[in-house]
This record gives sequence, structure tokens and C-alpha cells, in this order.
Amino acid sequence: MSYLELRNLQKRYAKDGPLIVDNMNLSIEKGEFIVFLGPSGCGKTTTIRMISGLEDVSGGDIIVDGESILQKKPRDRGVSMIFQSYAIWPHMTAFDNIAYPLKLQKTAKDEIKKRVEAAAQAAGIEMLLKRYPAQMSGGQRQRVAVARAIVVKPRIFLMDEPLSNLDAKLRVSMRSELKRIHLMEHSTTIFVTHDQAEAMSLADRIVIMYRGKIEQIGAPMEIYRDSATYFAASFIGTPPANFFDICIEKTGEGYSAVNEHIRYRLPASLKAALAPWEGRKAVLGIRPEFIELSPGREKTPGYLCDAVIDFIEPQGNHSILITRIGGMEIKIVAPDSTNVTVNTPVSLNIKDEQVMFFDPDTGIRIR
Ligand SMILES: Nc1ncnc2c1ncn2[C@@H]1O[C@H](COP(=O)(O)OP(=O)(O)OP(=O)(O)O)[C@@H](O)[C@H]1O
Ligand SMILES: [Mg+2]
Repeated sequence: MSYLELRNLQKRYAKDGPLIVDNMNLSIEKGEFIVFLGPSGCGKTTTIRMISGLEDVSGGDIIVDGESILQKKPRDRGVSMIFQSYAIWPHMTAFDNIAYPLKLQKTAKDEIKKRVEAAAQAAGIEMLLKRYPAQMSGGQRQRVAVARAIVVKPRIFLMDEPLSNLDAKLRVSMRSELKRIHLMEHSTTIFVTHDQAEAMSLADRIVIMYRGKIEQIGAPMEIYRDSATYFAASFIGTPPANFFDICIEKTGEGYSAVNEHIRYRLPASLKAALAPWEGRKAVLGIRPEFIELSPGREKTPGYLCDAVIDFIEPQGNHSILITRIGGMEIKIVAPDSTNVTVNTPVSLNIKDEQVMFFDPDTGIRIR
């Protein structure tokens, strides 16, 4: 049995209102770092508030270590939560902020001192313990919040967009810090974000949520390489994947993905999966690094269409090339060594048969 289990978890805020969390099932192992990733309003905060006990559940169960925690008060659940606005008390020093939950538990004074110092060290703020929040930077305050959450040695550590108040650079450094702290403390963690890069870099497994439902659960690269749905494919990856509404046509012995602007002859490996889709509409998805340019416009087996590069965004170790096909912007990631310039006529070719096909009605991956 897994350490933390959500079983058919449901939430409605109003009695006849919509299901905000819609039969969520999830098993988390002890020590795992799980990231809930999804757009605003998909139910991420609601879900972790139900785990922490700040919100009632409307149906289903939450099991920790083999036991339902629904009847337990928030403070008896062994859960620590960090909020987006990290809410440390301005009138208390860093030490007192971190010590606060231990005082509530009536921990002995010398034990408090020992544990606060250990937590502060883990969070990298041992030299700031005498300071008040007003005397600290945003990142340092956030570390105090982290130290206060880990000092109680929670069974489960919940973080709701803890980095969203920090500037871009600090966000990136704090996210490595959180990862380092996790590697030290091994607390079972759920981290909420709508930032896919943050999710990719932190998670053991990502749970992609959309409209109160789980779209896909998997390791970051698993979801990236093998997206289960159109939504998962579109939400993960920068620049995002390119999508085309196409029709599957029979061409000779094989099939092609066709619309007004593109014509991609499907490789033999896709034939069986797409044969039932003959004459039907589908969505073709291609990640930006799997489009190859050929400046001579020679037609390779992966040929998609002709194009002209509109502009180039150099990124240092690669460039993003932008073109339009049928009025739609297409982004291509090319190595910096690419010799393509703006306004050159090129052909776009799909590399290594790296395509995804989705059912246009359900969004589910066909192949
Ligand atoms: N107390 C409440 N009463 C009624 N509806 C609520 C309440 N709290 C949240 N909701 C609704 O539930 C849905 C999910 O909200 P939730 O805060 O869980 O989203 P989220 O995924 O955390 O979004 P964000 O990324 O913006 O924080 C939203 O449509 C929201 O308006
Ligand atoms: Mg939220």
C-alpha cells in the first residue's frame, strides 16, 4: 500500500455546484516529491487543502499510512503546509517564527533550540535567526517559512505555489534549494504550481490536472516524451508543441496526415494505429525540436510542408525559429549552428517519426 492515497476524492463547494475535484485517485510513495501541475482554477489548492484538513471533502477518502485521516483535526494529521503568501509573522524573529509550531506542541525548550537550529541550517538561514522579517529579503523570508514547515518533521509536506512571490532569478535558485532540502529530509511532498518548468525540474512524478481531473501521472520526461492527452502535451514543454488539425487520408499503400497546408506521409510504424482513422479528423502534435529544416527544400521522408522563417530568437545554446503555416505560428528549436536566416525558403521535415496524434473530440492520444 502506498503512503498517501486519495481515493475517489471529490469536492463541491456548493451543494448542487460543480465538481471542483472530480473523483481523484492517486497513490504517493513515502518520500516522493509530487508536483500538481495545472492551469488556474483546476483544483490544485482545493485538493491540498482537503489533505491538510483546511477544507472538508464532499466524497471519497484520504489515507495516510493505511489509515483514513478525514476524522482528524488539521493539527493531528502530521501535515505541514506552505502557502503562496508565505505568512510568517512580522513581529517575531526568524527563530520565534520557526519555533512557533513546536511551542504549540509544548516541546521542551532545549529541544526547540536544537530543532530550530537544525531546520534553519537545512534552509540555509542559520545566521538570520535573530532577524525580523522586515530585515530579510523575499527569498530569506521564504526560507523561514520552509524551516517552520520542516521543523515539525511532518509526515507530509504541502507547498502551494511557494515560489510565486519571488522574482524569476530567485525562483530558480530557491527551487534548487527546495530540492536539496527534500533530498536531505525525504519528506513526502506535494508541491503545487502552474509553472511547467518548475514542475519538470522538481518532481519525481508530475500529476497533470485539468478541470478537477487527473490528465496524466508520470515522471517529467515520461510525460514530455509520451504525453497521454492533448492537454498534457500542450501544457508541458517550452516552447510548446505545435499542433495541426489534419485529416487522415489513404495515399497508395499508406496514409498521410493532410490539411490545406501540410502533407505528412505516415511512416510504416504508424500505419496500424491510424488505419481506423482513415477519412477522419485528428490532431497532429510535433515538439519544436523534432522539426528539421532543409534550406534546399529537398523532400525527405519526414516532409511536412514548405515555409519561410519569419524571425529567429537566439537563446545562447539553441535558437527558436518562428514561421507561419496557414496563419498559425510554428516554433522550431534548432541548434545554434543552424545556417538558416530570416526569409530563406525552407522545407520543414519531421525528425525520427516523432509525432503525436490525438482524438480531436476527447483529446486522448491515438498514437
Ligand atoms: N471557497 C470557495 N468557494 C467556492 N468556490 C471556490 C472556493 N475556492 C475555490 N473555488 C473554486 O474552485 C475552483 C478551483 O479552485 P482552486 O483554488 O483549487 O484552483 P487552483 O488550481 O489552485 O488555481 P490557481 O492556480 O489559480 O491557484 C475554482 O473555480 C474556484 O473558483
Ligand atoms: Mg491555487
